[in-house]
Amino acid sequence: MKKIAILTSGGDAPGMNTAIRAITKAAFHYNLQAVGIKDGYDGLMAGRFVNMKYTDVDNIIQRGGTILGSARSPEFKNKEARKEAIKNIKDAGIDGLIVIGGDGSFRGAKILAEEVNIPVIGLPGTIDNDLYGTEATIGYDTALNTIVSAIDNIRDTASSHKRVFFVEVMGRNSGFLALNSAIASGAESVLIPETITNIEALAKQIKSQNKGRRSSIIIVAEGDEEGGAMDIMRKIKPHLEDFRLRTTILGHIQRGGSPSYFDRALATRSGIMAVELLLDGKTQQMVGIKADELITTDFKDAIGKHAIPKVEKEELLGKLLTL
Ligand code: F6P
Repeated sequence: MKKIAILTSGGDAPGMNTAIRAITKAAFHYNLQAVGIKDGYDGLMAGRFVNMKYTDVDNIIQRGGTILGSARSPEFKNKEARKEAIKNIKDAGIDGLIVIGGDGSFRGAKILAEEVNIPVIGLPGTIDNDLYGTEATIGYDTALNTIVSAIDNIRDTASSHKRVFFVEVMGRNSGFLALNSAIASGAESVLIPETITNIEALAKQIKSQNKGRRSSIIIVAEGDEEGGAMDIMRKIKPHLEDFRLRTTILGHIQRGGSPSYFDRALATRSGIMAVELLLDGKTQQMVGIKADELITTDFKDAIGKHAIPKVEKEELLGKLLTL
């Protein structure tokens, strides 16, 4: 093995740069040439490859986003378009590929590994934390900290004005960010795609919680079945006429920023392991973490099984959220 390529795909996540740095440095350590592919699968199809120099990854350990660029690349689902990608891989003499992204990115990586005969390893890079086979994805911890800090700020103004805030966080299909930011910020309620939302029950809960209190914060995952924070506020308004309601959508603020210690350590450790897995001839595996040990999961399981957020004692948690 002489040349390994790296690409970042899907929504960017803090720590992707840290992983690119670790992979590039590990490649140099093992006398491999690291090749950066620009803009995910789009760049793979267009042949936008750059040979990485050691200095290219200087001073990026702390930078959010991805220096390689990222894309959603729906065109990559098309077999004809993938033929270009395969030709580019062969022409460039790439012997192995590391894909940093979420489950959509691994779906692409799996198909690619089956169509081109080189090993492909995945690193979970997404703020959503919704991948099976890891307790944490790269970027999740940073995004959670960003959200919790934003909710702390909202709490200051909410309690000054006796208001109820519906705060929307990311998570189209997943409630990890919503549930865990709610726990960590002491929110009064949380709505996630994995559970049923009952607007009338929520209104009742807010009324009972609000007795003697100066504020309520309801965290809404953007993919909740009743809609985002604006929809929830509109639907609940008729039930809460005497309340002052406000909405905040945190949006892409959640995806940016310098990675936390946890994400930097995870990205560095798993980046090194990804290179070593390629050297061992492993393919179609995702690197994850469990009880502080790095583990691997086959792409078919990482993609096929959806991770769901867990709480040990729902009843107690419900009380904690509404105290
Ligand atoms: O990358 C995951 C994610 O942040 C989701 O939580 C969110 O639904 C989505 O990306 C937003 O994607 P985009 O930036 O393409 O609008």
